[in-house]
Amino acid sequence: MIDLRSDTLTKPSDGMRKAMAEAEVGDDVYGEDPTVNRLEGFCAELLGKETALFLPTGTMANLVAFLSQTRPGETVIMSEAAHPFHYENANLSMVAGLLTRTISDDLGKFTAEQAAAQIVREDDPHLSPTTLVAVENTTNRGGGACWEYYELENIAGLCRQHRMRLHCDGARIFNACVATNIEVRHYARCCDTLCFCLSKGLGAPAGSILAGDRETLHKALRFRKMLGGGMRQSGILAAAGLYALEHHLPCLNEDHRRARDFRRALEAEGVNFCLPSPTNILYLKAADPAAATAALKQHGVLVLPHGYDRIRVVFHRDIDDAAAAVALEIFKRTLLSTP
Ligand SMILES: Cc1ncc(COP(=O)(O)O)c(C=O)c1O
Repeated sequence: MIDLRSDTLTKPSDGMRKAMAEAEVGDDVYGEDPTVNRLEGFCAELLGKETALFLPTGTMANLVAFLSQTRPGETVIMSEAAHPFHYENANLSMVAGLLTRTISDDLGKFTAEQAAAQIVREDDPHLSPTTLVAVENTTNRGGGACWEYYELENIAGLCRQHRMRLHCDGARIFNACVATNIEVRHYARCCDTLCFCLSKGLGAPAGSILAGDRETLHKALRFRKMLGGGMRQSGILAAAGLYALEHHLPCLNEDHRRARDFRRALEAEGVNFCLPSPTNILYLKAADPAAATAALKQHGVLVLPHGYDRIRVVFHRDIDDAAAAVALEIFKRTLLSTP
């Protein structure tokens, strides 16, 4: 099977497994895991933030960021396509007690003007004040769209003006950096907190990083523990994260190239795509997504049906040129003869 459902499917490389096996470890709840400490220090430096925290998942990193920068009963602004709004089991309302105001846009992005229109005034006792804006970079449901620096800087300016915090769900931030040539520290400079996943295109088996200022991250540490995310000898996982950042980053470019070539070849055959795909995530139009997914599976390719009109295809480090070429041929044969 050629598995194009998600970049979360990547398996640890041989070098990564060796680094994990050899990791020096301690009890991280006591702050005594040297490899976790090294990863957190490395990431804080990379992002130009005061400090960083290692968490098991991107979902927990987002939730901890929201909990640390808001109080129950407040409002947060994000895209209607945002991962926490769609795929994190209503944790914003159930756990953080937040109200969400969303902005609709196919790419999962928004302008400062659109965000400004969603701000709830603090002085009206009927209303729940807006205290945080969240952006996603790259956008999962938006076809891997990336933010331009000036777009984020405008949102950051709005947040400063209205004393709101800005969080970036950068699950795939390095895909954005590769596509836009914007350094991760520049993206991070716009945001109060930024999290990213080690377990997607970077190929680690688990782990996310949340970075920000010391005061916020001190709260984040408490919330991580409260949610059950305090791990013990997690240096084994942190070693995978360090290895991913040191060795796998350049491969994201290859994923983007394969995604681009794949798209061009299918467009030449008349296949339609729903959104631009500047990184590794593609949405192909399909009249019957379930039928298209089943037909592709029968020929050896796994994809995800998405909504009523599309299928999702994601390129990642476990899909090399040979696998991409085979997948393309199967798509040509199958999609062109399926509704
Ligand atoms: C944009 C985005 N944010 C957050 C997450 C959550 O990450 P995790 O699966 O590690 O909880 C994902 C997962 O796919 C994602 O795509």
